[in-house]
Amino acid sequence: MKPPSDLQKIHIKHLAVIMDGNGRWAEKHKHIRIFGHVQGAKRALSLIRHCSRIKLPFLSLFALSTENTLRPKEEFDSLKKLLEKAFLKHSSLMMKEQIKLHIIGDLSIFSSKLQNLCKRFCEQTKNHQGLNLIVALNYGGRQEILKAIQKIAEKIKQNEIRVKDINEKSLSPFFASSPFPDPDLIIRTGGQIRLSNFYLWSSAYSELYFTETLWPDFDENCLNKALQNFNKVKRRFGRL
Ligand code: FPP
Repeated sequence: MKPPSDLQKIHIKHLAVIMDGNGRWAEKHKHIRIFGHVQGAKRALSLIRHCSRIKLPFLSLFALSTENTLRPKEEFDSLKKLLEKAFLKHSSLMMKEQIKLHIIGDLSIFSSKLQNLCKRFCEQTKNHQGLNLIVALNYGGRQEILKAIQKIAEKIKQNEIRVKDINEKSLSPFFASSPFPDPDLIIRTGGQIRLSNFYLWSSAYSELYFTETLWPDFDENCLNKALQNFNKVKRRFGRL
């Protein structure tokens, strides 16, 4: 789908998406929950393609939170398999569209197959010049903050940094999401009005967009509407 002309002037660098509502979508269509996730993964693929075509520089997808890993074993196992399949299936798109893949989160709970796939695709795409796709897997905002504190505490212990030198700028490199700009816009589908532990540090000045639309139904038109809405906002970052 061609983006509407006012999207050509889009000022957004980093869009982050909380893809919620797969389970309810499945229920609504009288399917098992995992079928909702399958549809959700297809939707993720089509929106990645769309974001690449509209030349968005950074797209983050909250694919699995640390809390999602506590779901019943059957659903979690299916989600892991779906992610493996999605990575394999999307590899040609990543090559064709020059997408650069980044993964954030604790991968140690996943099979070595999934860990290796993540490593391989990040390595294979590291010189790509197109969309930076950040997939958050077993990611939690609090865990990201905790890890940054642990790392900086270690530096203090080694006398490499003084407590009085800790500030936002010196702390920020310790965050897993530090290579990316702060998200300008966070979209959450599925009707819940919360961030659910996503990008707690870097979302300080993000615009938030919540929609009732369930993730598998969130198509290019829905995304364009959210982006057009963002275009209208005057961002002041707390200033006048
Ligand atoms: C939330 O729906 C969604 C998830 C827990 C999984 C999202 C993962 C995907 C869509 C796959 C992503 C694929 C790629 C390639 C990044 P929910 O189960 O919480 O829905 P509910 O609130 O209706 O129960």
